[in-house]
Amino acid sequence: MNHVESSVKHAVSAFEAGEPVLIHDFDDREGETDIVYPASDVAPEDVVRLRKDAGGLICVAVSDDVADSFGLPFLEDEIDHPSASSHDLAYDSRSSFSLPVNHRETFTGITDVDRALTITELATSAQKAIIEPAEYTPDVFAKSFRSPGHVHLLRGAPNLLADRKGHTELGLALAAEADLPPAVVVCEMLDHTTGVATTPTDAKAYAAANDLVYVEGQALVEALTE
Ligand code: 5RP
Ligand code: CA
Ligand code: ZN
Repeated sequence: MNHVESSVKHAVSAFEAGEPVLIHDFDDREGETDIVYPASDVAPEDVVRLRKDAGGLICVAVSDDVADSFGLPFLEDEIDHPSASSHDLAYDSRSSFSLPVNHRETFTGITDVDRALTITELATSAQKAIIEPAEYTPDVFAKSFRSPGHVHLLRGAPNLLADRKGHTELGLALAAEADLPPAVVVCEMLDHTTGVATTPTDAKAYAAANDLVYVEGQALVEALTE
C-alpha cells in the first residue's frame, strides 16, 4: 500500500469510528486545513474543540441530494442585495454556502450544547432524507429547523470531487467512503498568533499530538474521485 492509499485508509477508519480528520485542501486553493467530523458524532465537547482549537466557521456540509430534499438553496442566489451580485472568489468559481440554521429545540443556538444538537439533528435528518426522499420535503425540514441560525449549511456539488474540490466535497466524499450519512462538520484551523490559516506543518503536529489523522486533499481526490 502506498502513502496515498494508507493515509486515505486511516482517514476512512477514523471517520467510521466517529473521529475527526484534518483535511488540507491544496496549496493553490484555500491552503487551509479543516477539522472535519461526521455530523452524527458531534457532542458539545467537539464543538468546544472546533471553536477553541480550529477557530474558523463551524459549518455542516450536506450532499446535493439531501440539500434538494431539505430545499436548500445556494445563499448567493437568495440574497437580493448588490453585495451578492458578483461572486469574485480568489480560490474557486463559487461558494458552497446555503442557509444558516438552528434546530427548533435550541435556545439562542450558539452554545456548544445548542450547536451540537443542531448538528446531530441535521445528520439524523440527512439519513431520513436518504431513506425516504419523497417524504422528507422542505416543509418537513422546516418543522425541525429555523433560519437564520448559528450553524452554516453548505451544499455539496452533485458529483462531489469530480465537480468541485472544496472541503465541502472532500468531507462528503470521505463520509461516502465510510458509509456514513452525507452530513459532515467542517471548521477551518486558524493560527492563534499569526491570524492566518494554520500551516500544514502545524496542522500535522496538532494531529500527532491529539492522535488524529491528517490527510491531504490530493490523496482523497486520487483515491475517491469516481
Ligand atoms: C466555510 C468555508 C470553508 O472554506 C469550508 O472549508 C467550506 O468551503 P469549501 O468547500 O469552499 O472549502 O468557507 O467556512
Ligand atoms: Ca472558504
Ligand atoms: Zn474550505
